[in-house]
This record gives sequence, C-alpha cells and structure tokens, in this order.
Amino acid sequence: MGEPRILIVGLGLIGGSLAAALKQNGFQGEILACDRDREEIERGIAMGIIDRGDTDLEPLLPGCSLVVLAVPVMAMEAVLNRLAVSSDERTIITDVGSTKGAIRDAAIRAFGDLPSRFVPGHPIAGSEKTGVEASDAELYRHHKVILTPDDDTDPDALRRVSALWVSCGADVLTMDIEHHDQVLAQTSHLPHLLAFSLVDTLARQDERLEIFRYAAGGFRDFTRIAGSDPVMWRDIFMANRDAVLAALDDFESGVARLRNAVVAGDGDAMLATFDRASHARRYFDTLLNQTSYQAGYQTMEHSKRRYRVAPGGSASGCIRVPGDKSVSHRSIMLGALAEGITEVTGFLEGEDSLATLQAFREMGVAIEGPHQGRVTIHGVGMHGLQKPAGPLYVGNAGTAMRLFAGLLAGQAFDTELTGDVSLTRRPMGRVADPLREMGAVIETAEGGRPPLMIRGGQALQGIDYDMPMASAQVKSCLLLAGMYAQGETRVREPAPTRDHTERMLNGFGYRVEREGDTAWLQGGGKLLAGPIDVPSDISSAAFFLVAAAITPGADLTLEHVGINPTRIGVINILQAMGADLTLANQHEVGGEPVADIRVRYAPLQGIEIPADQVPLAIDEFPALFIAAANASGTTRLRGAEELRVKESDRIQAMADGLTALGVENRVHDDGIDIVGRADDTADDGPLYGGGHVDSLGDHRIAMAFTVAGLRAADEILVEDCTNVATSFPGFLDLVKRLGMHVVEEAS
Ligand code: S3P
Repeated sequence: MGEPRILIVGLGLIGGSLAAALKQNGFQGEILACDRDREEIERGIAMGIIDRGDTDLEPLLPGCSLVVLAVPVMAMEAVLNRLAVSSDERTIITDVGSTKGAIRDAAIRAFGDLPSRFVPGHPIAGSEKTGVEASDAELYRHHKVILTPDDDTDPDALRRVSALWVSCGADVLTMDIEHHDQVLAQTSHLPHLLAFSLVDTLARQDERLEIFRYAAGGFRDFTRIAGSDPVMWRDIFMANRDAVLAALDDFESGVARLRNAVVAGDGDAMLATFDRASHARRYFDTLLNQTSYQAGYQTMEHSKRRYRVAPGGSASGCIRVPGDKSVSHRSIMLGALAEGITEVTGFLEGEDSLATLQAFREMGVAIEGPHQGRVTIHGVGMHGLQKPAGPLYVGNAGTAMRLFAGLLAGQAFDTELTGDVSLTRRPMGRVADPLREMGAVIETAEGGRPPLMIRGGQALQGIDYDMPMASAQVKSCLLLAGMYAQGETRVREPAPTRDHTERMLNGFGYRVEREGDTAWLQGGGKLLAGPIDVPSDISSAAFFLVAAAITPGADLTLEHVGINPTRIGVINILQAMGADLTLANQHEVGGEPVADIRVRYAPLQGIEIPADQVPLAIDEFPALFIAAANASGTTRLRGAEELRVKESDRIQAMADGLTALGVENRVHDDGIDIVGRADDTADDGPLYGGGHVDSLGDHRIAMAFTVAGLRAADEILVEDCTNVATSFPGFLDLVKRLGMHVVEEAS
C-alpha cells in the first residue's frame, strides 16, 4: 500500500482547517477534497492545503483510506447514501457534525446498520468565519475532539481517526452519543440560539442604527457567534431538537427567576445568581488556562507541583500569615445562617475555606468577595438555605465536610457531600454515627468514608455524647446539628479541643454553655449577624516559628497571630524545647486573643511532649517534628494517633521524609521518636542531608519539609505541593521574603 489518501467532503472552514493542519504537521499522504463549489476547491489547491479535488464524489473515492464528512449536518445523509453505494468496505468514515444522534440515524438508514468502520466525531473548535479561505492550521491545537464510537466500532478505525486528530494537536476523548448531544445542546447550541435571537430582536427595532452604534463590549462579546453560518446552525437545531429544547427550558426558568428578582427588587437573589455565575465563569477560565484556581472554589485535580528547596537561607523579618482556617470556615457557616449581614475581615482565601464559601453560594446564599480578606455574607436565617443543584464538593477540607454534615442533617432538603482523593480516604463515621443517634439519616461509602448522602426533613433529637476522640470537628458538627434538634445537645471531650465554634456561636448570640469538659446548647435558637475579624492562623505561623527557632541568627516577628488557649500547644512545646519565643501586643479581636510573636534562634533540646499538649498542637506536629530533628537529644510523642487520619498519615509521611534526610526516627502506633541532630556544642552548619520527600499532597507535610531546608546540607525536593494553597496561599512568597531559596516547578 502507498501513502494514505484522505478525502475531505465539504471544504469549508472545518474541512479546510483539517487539511491545513494535516499539511502543516507533515502528513505524508494525499489530501483530496470534494465540494459542490468548484471555486472553493481551486482556492484550497492554491492555498496548498489540498492536492486535488472535484465537485463529484465518486471519482475521488478509489484508493481513499479515510473519508471525513465535513458538510452541514442536514447534508450528511445524502453523502452517506452515496458512500453506502460507492465506498470500499475498508474505507474508514468519520464526520465532524455538531450533533451525533441524527447522523447515526442517517448512517443506519443509508447502510442498513451502523458500519463498524464509521467513527462519528466532533471537533470542538470553530469560528464565526466561513469558507476555505478562513482555514486555520492551528484551529484544533489544544482543542477537544469528541469521538462517539459504540461497542461495535472497529478498534482499528477508532485508533486511526483518533491519530488523525492527535496529529493536528487536538485532545481526543470519547463519549456516548446521547451524552454528547445533551452536553453540546447546553454548552454550544443554546448560546448560539441566544446570540442569534438577541441580535435579531434588537435589529428589528426601529432605532437599530442607534443601538448598534453604541453597542460596545458586552454586546459584542455576547453576540459574536451570531455571525456564524445560518445554514449550519439551522441544521444543528433541526438535528438536535430534543436536547436543545430541554436546555432551553432550563434556561427559560433561570431567566424567569431573575426576572422575578428584578420585578421584586430582590437584590440578594440577584447577587446570589450573579455571584455563583461569576465564580463559575472564573473557574471555567482556569480550566481553559490550566491554572490553579485560588480566587474561587477548587474542584479540579491539580497538575502536580514540587518545591525545589535550596539548602540554608535565613528566617528574619516581620510578617503576617493569612487568616485562621478554622475561624474562616465558621465565619461563612454562621454568617450564612444568621439574620442580617456579616462582614468578615482577614478571611483566609485558601482553597479549603473557599470551598465552604462556594458551597453556601450553591445553597442560595449571597456572598460578596472575598476581596483582600473581606467577605460580606447576606445571611438567610436558620431555615433559609436552598437545596443545591448537585453534590457539594469541599475539596481537601475535612473541617468543611464534618461541620457541614451536622448542619445539613438539620435541613429540609437532601444533600450529597463529596471531596478530593485525600478527603475520600478520611473517616466520617465519627460524625455520621452520633448524628444518626440524633435521628439523622446519612449514608456513607464503605468504611464510613465520603461521599456522604444526607437525607433532609428529619426531626433531630438532642444528644448527650461522650466523644471517643478529642476532635473539635466532631464537637462542632454535633453542636451545629444541635441547633436544629429538639432539646439539649451536650458534647463531652476527652481532652480540650479548639473552641472556636462555641466562642463564635456565643458571638452570634446563640448561647453555648460550658462546664469542665462539656459544652451544650438548646435547639431552636437563632443567630444574629455581626462583624468578624479573623486572626492570623497559628497553624500557618507554626512553620515560621520553627523556621526561626532552628536557624542561627534568626529574629522573626509574626504579627496578629491567634493565640486561643486551645491552639497554643506549639508555643508551649517550642518553649519547653528551649526556644526563645515571646508574646507582645496581646489583645482580643472579636472574642479571640491575638498577639505578635517574636522568635529568636536558641538551641533546642529534645523533650517528651506532654500528653495534655497533643490536642492543642494537633495541626502543628509536622512543623514540630522538624524542630525535633534540629534539637539535641530525642523528642518523644505519644497519644497522637489522630495524626494518622489527617490529610495524610502524618506520622508515617513525616517519618519517611525525615529518614530521606538522614534523621533517625522510630514510628509508634500513636506517635514517634525523633533523634535530634544537634549536639551540645554550638554548630551553625547543616544538621542533616538533602533528599527527595513526598508530601503525599498534604499541605502541612509540604511546608514542614520546605522549612527543613534551612539546616539541610543539600537540596530538598518536596513532591506534590499544590495543596499548600488549601491553607496557606502565598506561602512561597513569604518563605522567599524571609531569605530562603525555593523554586516551584512542575513534577
Ligand atoms: C479543626 C479541627 C482539627 C484540626 C483541623 C481543623 C477545626 O481536626 O486538625 O485542621 O477547625 O475544627 P479534628 O477535629 O479532627 O481534630
């Protein structure tokens, strides 16, 4: 067999661009074209994108290995009829039609059944321009081409059609025909219909010249596609009638809702819709640009990034780390359920808290921002949430999922909570079990893992619950459910855990009592909006406390850090290890104590970590383990089995990383022993080696090993660091500002 010969039937923009792309990318065979317009063929030859052509199909068919149908959808059937009679059985057939069901039906009518050598396809690319002259060899580069094979499609034919598009730079995927037609009706056909209709409606008005003269940006952007080929689009709407009508019905009810909001002057309803749309649009942009999404919610799996940490560097200066993650989550939750408007400052614009924010938008809450840490929440009251259109995706955020579980168990509607791969491995039975005791109906995946299906409309009863583990998330979940329950909900904790929920509920006027180890509230109350000032997150500050504590000559001040007594284990432990750490400017903001923390380098000693400090430093152990590696003597931690069910198994992840750097350690079920590398004689040099460390997608593991670089002898490569954005956007900027050299790169 000689070189392959491809025949393109219909030499317009789409067919011509395919020919141009094949030529540009070194296609070795012959490219033929059939078009009823002889001038188009001559133009194609003159442009050098086809070798020859004809207005008649049959003379071109002999010797063709592949025929690509690029005629309008309604013209496909006539071509298929002729191919059924005249084409060789070995010739592969594909098409580029924007609807697939109608073309499949036409092929069945023409051939008697769907030939296995027919691979229906649809390149998602185009332009409002028409004709071969507009051909663009780059039209398909980085664009998707959807192929819709069925079970009987010849795998070799599928492979060759796929290779054809890949050679033009396209990303090929497969889908079934019905799904394709539905998705395209929503994302392509409906917007074209709207653009045609809007331009036509305005053009009919008398003063049209006036209108178009002043119609600038918005009109131009929205209606660009109304310049598209009318015949092609008539065909598409005839061919994809049912799916288009379904999409149009949905759209009409959306417009009707907005119309009602405009009629009623309901600014909150408008804001809720516009906000949701604006965030969804920005998310869509990031998908197109393949960038990570920090200014909105996170729903996509990131491309993996690694940190290349140069050894040494300094850790001096004065910085402020971002807002507290726990308080940020709660500010949105309570603000949304409150009556009135809650103004938040210092909000953490990390992916975890943004996921919470986005989830409330999806339940109809109007939220402005975040903009430089400012968020305005238009509270809907305890019973004002609306059923979201789909599952609520909370990404990496365990706090969001567990607190939501309690809050959603009390709603009138059903919800589904999902998360990313890491969250999907984490235990949710610890909240689902006591919630069920309260009367909630919750299904989990195997082993009590996400997703959670929560049935609404249940009458919850208060509970008196002894928590088996010290968990602020479980406590908070039950207190939030307790607001929707009959009677009193009491939660007893085996050790003190962070008390932000209790403090903030009281701040919102919802009374929570506390005596000893027990917190309780009565169901049926309400929340009143008020301002919230989120302090800087001590869990984020911890990396810098440790950075300065281990770096000879360091003098670092961290401003406005939250020092809630249930969170200061890291301060107590570092001081017990000998760190020179002082608090200044202590005061209260919105019910939470804050201070500026100054750390100067001083040699550290290994210690037995006091059991009562473990829950108070639960998120700070990755950083503290680095301090331990830099101390003299051994640091011993026990009673910390909770570390095994965080964003990763933090005991094992840290042990593996420390081992990679040459730091001796012994792992225990509930803790670890770390043999510090500093001896008693003062030595300012490196204490351990460099190496390759896997953070396992856990933000705190990634940040801990970045800081470890300060006393490493060689470069440390930290893998899988994208999730640092869940809790600490801007981490690398601060690290560099203090004097470390870290480069982020694709891995
Ligand atoms: C949190 C509680 C802690 C902590 C998490 C945030 C909270 O989890 O690790 O990062 O905001 O309530 P546990 O309740 O599982 O200990």
